[in-house]
Amino acid sequence: MGFATDCIHAGQEPDPSTGAVTTPIFQTSTYVQDGLGRHKGYEYARTHNPTRRALEKNLAALEGGTDAYCYASGLAATHAVLTMMQSGQRVVVSDNVYGGTHRLFTKVLSRVGIEFAFLDSTDPKRLDSEAGPFDMLWIETPTNPLLKICDIRALAEIAHARRALLVVDNTFLSPFFQRPLALGADIVVHSTTKYLNGHSDSVGGVAIVRDPAHADWLRYVQNAVGAILSPFDSWLVLRGTKTLALRMPQHEANARRIAPWLRARPEAKKVYWPGFPDHPGHETHKAQSTGFGAMISVDLGEREAARRFLEALQLCSLGESLGGVETLVAHPATMTHAGYTPEERAALGIGDGLVRLSIGCEDADDLVADLERALAAV
Ligand SMILES: Cc1ncc(COP(=O)(O)O)c(C=O)c1O
Repeated sequence: MGFATDCIHAGQEPDPSTGAVTTPIFQTSTYVQDGLGRHKGYEYARTHNPTRRALEKNLAALEGGTDAYCYASGLAATHAVLTMMQSGQRVVVSDNVYGGTHRLFTKVLSRVGIEFAFLDSTDPKRLDSEAGPFDMLWIETPTNPLLKICDIRALAEIAHARRALLVVDNTFLSPFFQRPLALGADIVVHSTTKYLNGHSDSVGGVAIVRDPAHADWLRYVQNAVGAILSPFDSWLVLRGTKTLALRMPQHEANARRIAPWLRARPEAKKVYWPGFPDHPGHETHKAQSTGFGAMISVDLGEREAARRFLEALQLCSLGESLGGVETLVAHPATMTHAGYTPEERAALGIGDGLVRLSIGCEDADDLVADLERALAAV
């Protein structure tokens, strides 16, 4: 089936008891059993839920995986994947990942003896020579918030030569634009809170795998730890993915209009977007993705300029998060990347004047008018 068909149908059948076209929200904590050891495959809702299972099958199909497991948030999915590591093992991480991922790794999981090394992963040869031995490589591409590009195929080879796993956080592009498993990644993670749900009304996460042994472990952890996605959130994301193939082209068309326009403005010191032909990762990105997405970052210089810009916006909303149909604008230094120290942010180039835009599906003219008004206030 084609991608749009899978978005709408994969993992879902009309409800056998009623014929309901959409998968019902199975809002139950447990299931009546016919007798000792005799049941319909469902015992307890932490372990099994038909709404969640439908979403997991849907997301596995969209990413081209064998299976998927949904968790209470993107970070809970990230945590579940990291339970594949044990004390003494080493994880190499892109130096420019979501601040919450950085916080989970450095402040929580490092306490149980997993070692984390943050390296620039935009140059695979350099990473190969500098990384030393490792057991997992964790990347985002494009990275958050500087939209750097990592070569998934090359990094998969480097990881596999060490018998290590490559995990790709594909939140920024969604499987509509990029399918890392087909490029050699072992596991894909998403914050379903973002494009997969698409409507800024649910928090969730998913890990999608190729290897059935990884699926067994993630299913085990999902039940053993219990950070499950609720039936209602599962239903919301399932509803969201039905229109993924309609939303993503509109997000991107708006970004294609706004990114060059923004770059031509004198207030913008630098605009980050992988669609620019002179972006250092442009060719790599084109070789592994079918679109540039709708995340754009712009450096306005000083923190005060960013503040004036953000406070003058009327249509675009200042808020953490991304990937919804409404345009959201964030200030990484004080919001998404506040978990990094000021020194770490400075070393990465996440300045106080940096603003991150998640371009929504509104009319591009309205967005441009709002951004123009806000830039005039800078
Ligand atoms: C790229 C990326 N990965 C993971 C997460 C974490 O997801 P959640 O907020 O659903 O826990 C985020 C959240 O902003 C994100 O931007």
